[in-house]
Amino acid sequence: MKILVTGGLGFIGSHTVVELQNEGFEVVVVDNLSNSSEQVVDGIFSITAKKPLFEKIDLRDKKSVQELFQKYNDILGVIHFAASKAVGESVENPLLYYENNVTTLVYLLQELQKLPKAHFIFSSSCTVYGQAEQMPITENASVQKAMSPYGNTKQIGEEIIEDVTKVSEIDAILLRYFNPIGAHPSAAIGELPIGVPQNLVPYITQTAIGLREQLSVYGADYPTPDGTAIRDYIHVVDLAKAHVVALQRLLQHKNKDKVEIFNLGTGTGSSVLEVITAFEKVSGEKLNYKIVGRREGDVVAAYANTDRANSVLGWKAEFSLEEALASAWKWEQKIRS
Ligand code: NAD
Ligand code: WQD
Repeated sequence: MKILVTGGLGFIGSHTVVELQNEGFEVVVVDNLSNSSEQVVDGIFSITAKKPLFEKIDLRDKKSVQELFQKYNDILGVIHFAASKAVGESVENPLLYYENNVTTLVYLLQELQKLPKAHFIFSSSCTVYGQAEQMPITENASVQKAMSPYGNTKQIGEEIIEDVTKVSEIDAILLRYFNPIGAHPSAAIGELPIGVPQNLVPYITQTAIGLREQLSVYGADYPTPDGTAIRDYIHVVDLAKAHVVALQRLLQHKNKDKVEIFNLGTGTGSSVLEVITAFEKVSGEKLNYKIVGRREGDVVAAYANTDRANSVLGWKAEFSLEEALASAWKWEQKIRS
């Protein structure tokens, strides 16, 4: 059973390729290496003893996308990770984001629309909820006006998929990730942020390893128990496994609707200070940090109600925050050694 994974050498994509191969799927990875490296293929091989087929293609090139589907005319499902994901960069260069995140989606769906049947899984984000009124956040919470062009590409992406499934034989699952962190326990694959990390956990591990001097904690005056903002940090391996389960649901025609939406989180919120404390505990390192002002655009709290994913997909996050942080630390130590 051949599955196309776009962005399959990236952070979440590579972990998903591992889980797909572990479940016996044959994987074709498409990636333009804009935010990853071909060595990730070796990392995947070292875990699964199997190399995915790899096509270095830029999905912005419509002709290449068409040729891809001509070459592989037996693709049963597509998991679409490829996108640009830096919120700040999207504010500075919105068209780059609309082109890379929206145009590429359209090109893929145009090819899938030609097939007698197609199954599609889309990487969406909890960012679509903005600051939700109620915690934990259910899938029925309303989608808020996007706070960045990046966030908007996820909302537009969801709408495009909703529209096309109404008039085609494509069915889809939209997965709204909360905050993915960590690395494969083997430390053969993990997150490779380019430049200064924007996300909390890679910033923590890079500070602990001595690459950054100090972590800035953005705001300790939020209306939360310790004043720092709350998120739902989910181990990337748990997230990857959810993709396999979602894909199997579509392949086995178990889906009730042409488009289904699932939150992927642990269901537990952790504050920035709680993450720092947990990191210090698992790493044995003292973290140099200071409290600074709030970061523009940050929400106070976001954590998932995972009931739907638990009951409908039969999936539940298994790793603890400590385990996820330990794996991120192991990965950081490995890549700097
Ligand atoms: P990533 O940058 O590590 O992986 C994306 C991969 O896509 C990279 O390997 C990159 O080279 C590739 N890519 C980008 N543009 C491409 C193009 N035009 N053609 C071919 N390949 C291209 O990112 P990630 O963290 O693994 O995120 C995967 C998906 O999940 C993205 O859609 C992202 O928006 C979404 N998401 C991520 C997070 C997060 O915090 N990491 C949270 C919610 C949603
Ligand atoms: C987590 C918490 C920060 C860095 C972003 C995107 C979102 C999604 C996931 C893709 C916040 C605090 C962070 C630092 C800090 N991506 N922080 N010092 O902001 O929840 O979500 O990534 O869809 O769209 O916006 O994640 O890891 O950046 O921040 O204090 O150096 O850590 O203020 O409270 P965020 P994050």
